Amino acid sequence: MELVVLGAAAGGGLPQWNCAGGQSSRVWAGSLEPQTQASVAVGSKETGYVVINASPDLRQQIILAPQLHPKPKHPDGVRNTPIKGVVVTNADVDNVAGLLNLREKQDLAIYGPTKVLEILRDNPIFEVLDPDFVKQYPLETNEVIRPIKGLEIELFNVAGKAPLYLEESLGSESGHLGFTSGIELRTSSSKTLIISSCAELDQVLLERISTADNLLFDGTVFEDKEMQNFGLGVKTGRRMGHLPISAADGPIAQIANHPVFRKLFFHINNSNPIWDNESDEYKTIQKAGWDICRDGMVIDL
Ligand code: MLT
Ligand code: MN
Repeated sequence: MELVVLGAAAGGGLPQWNCAGGQSSRVWAGSLEPQTQASVAVGSKETGYVVINASPDLRQQIILAPQLHPKPKHPDGVRNTPIKGVVVTNADVDNVAGLLNLREKQDLAIYGPTKVLEILRDNPIFEVLDPDFVKQYPLETNEVIRPIKGLEIELFNVAGKAPLYLEESLGSESGHLGFTSGIELRTSSSKTLIISSCAELDQVLLERISTADNLLFDGTVFEDKEMQNFGLGVKTGRRMGHLPISAADGPIAQIANHPVFRKLFFHINNSNPIWDNESDEYKTIQKAGWDICRDGMVIDL
């Protein structure tokens, strides 16, 4: 079984379409590779794949991942896909917009917390996913599913906030509100956590992390005021529901003594200097035993 990083960047991607600052400038200048928005696929040729979060770049990500291509000779005919299902961990644009790429009357299962599925149900654009073919299944905290042979997926609640486009009605504070989740993937030989948004590393979460072999963790910003420092916006990382990498209550400090085999930042914003492996910030995360995800990275599970 393998995990394929379909996209490693946070919302907006790298570069962001309307940004010539931050780390985007290096990509436009050709010195850094572009990266698509956060998503992974988990599975194998034999079992098919489950996609964790459907980013707006999903169509491009499928094209770039041969594992996810339809096959010319298939019992279902020429319209087929190795993608058996999608798990959505929150309803942010960068996690759900890619579902719209999965229309076209293809059997598919969508799993997610009721709170997230309700947001999809309230938005008629997602009706393009024909319910005769696309079934939605609530997946609540601590519930376990086995969507493909040899893979257990457990969802767990993580502190976060309502999607940006619903802040006016649902509020902008972060907390354990059911809007954000992490995913635990278990195979016969490993345990992997995917936590793309995290506003707080509490004791329960730290305990779960201490049992993992691989950790893909929210690497949105290195410093809380990074967007302001680069002139990219006024919001802090915390205001967006993301714990800064370098904060005293952040992942470098809090996960320092945990025996996780592989620690990778994921969902990295285009402001974050860790994209550049010559930067002091990248050297800091490396020294602390971390590295970053990049599009196309494959991890054996
Ligand atoms: C986030 O991760 O903070 C959101 O994806 C931001 C957004 O919705 O643009
Ligand atoms: Mn995001």
